[in-house]
Amino acid sequence: MQEAIWDRSAEHYDEEIFDTFANDRHSVVRSTLERLIQSNHTVCDFGCGVGRTVEFLAQRAKQVYAVDFSATSLEVAARNVPQKENIHFLKRDLAVPGRRFCQADIGLLMQVLIMPAYDSRREILETVSRNLRPGARLVAVVPALEVAILTYLRIGEWRQREGASRKEVVAEMAAGQKEEVVSLVEGIVKISDTPTKHYLKEEIVLFFRDAGFTVLEVEKVEYSWAADFEEAPDWMQDPHPWDWVVVARKNE
Ligand SMILES: C[S@@+](CC[C@H](N)C(=O)[O-])C[C@H]1O[C@@H](n2cnc3c(N)ncnc32)[C@H](O)[C@@H]1O
Repeated sequence: MQEAIWDRSAEHYDEEIFDTFANDRHSVVRSTLERLIQSNHTVCDFGCGVGRTVEFLAQRAKQVYAVDFSATSLEVAARNVPQKENIHFLKRDLAVPGRRFCQADIGLLMQVLIMPAYDSRREILETVSRNLRPGARLVAVVPALEVAILTYLRIGEWRQREGASRKEVVAEMAAGQKEEVVSLVEGIVKISDTPTKHYLKEEIVLFFRDAGFTVLEVEKVEYSWAADFEEAPDWMQDPHPWDWVVVARKNE
């Protein structure tokens, strides 16, 4: 079911799926990976989608495994990425326990732990762990729950600058959250109508710890407000929206 949804998105990926790597204002994901990847490393791009990061990884690592459960995404990825002998595309459902397919030194898990179901997220992290060598580093990117709330505040600020009263602004913000916040306690907020898991920084540390990782760094990967609003006003600058980029070590 989930697989079919991602298959449908694959052909329109650029319009439908936000490009984290390209919109990263300070190239934090890029520089984090550059710092960690060595030329003798095996890297696994878990949930590689249409392969936006695969060529970048293949230019730096010895071997790259690009894994996704969407056959259509993998087909698009294979078309998009110039032929490279060191890239292995694999179709796997990361949420289903299965045999190990690689033993990577570095894992990338970008915008994959976003489904509402806790069990699926947990199972994916178990699969990722199984396919990393002990001591390996995992770079993960996940949506920030703080940003979901900050976005309402910025909309409120915008409306107030346009002349709306505080009462109107609060009513509009409340109407928005009623429509979009599926479960505050679970951090499930809709992005483009799709219920999406968002994380608190502290929650990341606990979630990864429970799956056998030690979180070493949690940083912001920042975007422009144009990523959230079609016509973001010029005054809307800092603080910018962000996702969390996590560097974790698989425990020995
Ligand atoms: C939002 S996209 C991110 C793609 C890519 N990492 C990027 O940042 O451009 C999420 C990807 O995860 C894949 N995915 C989601 N659940 C998966 C699962 N259980 N097993 C394998 N891939 C999965 C989807 O097919 C999709 O390509």
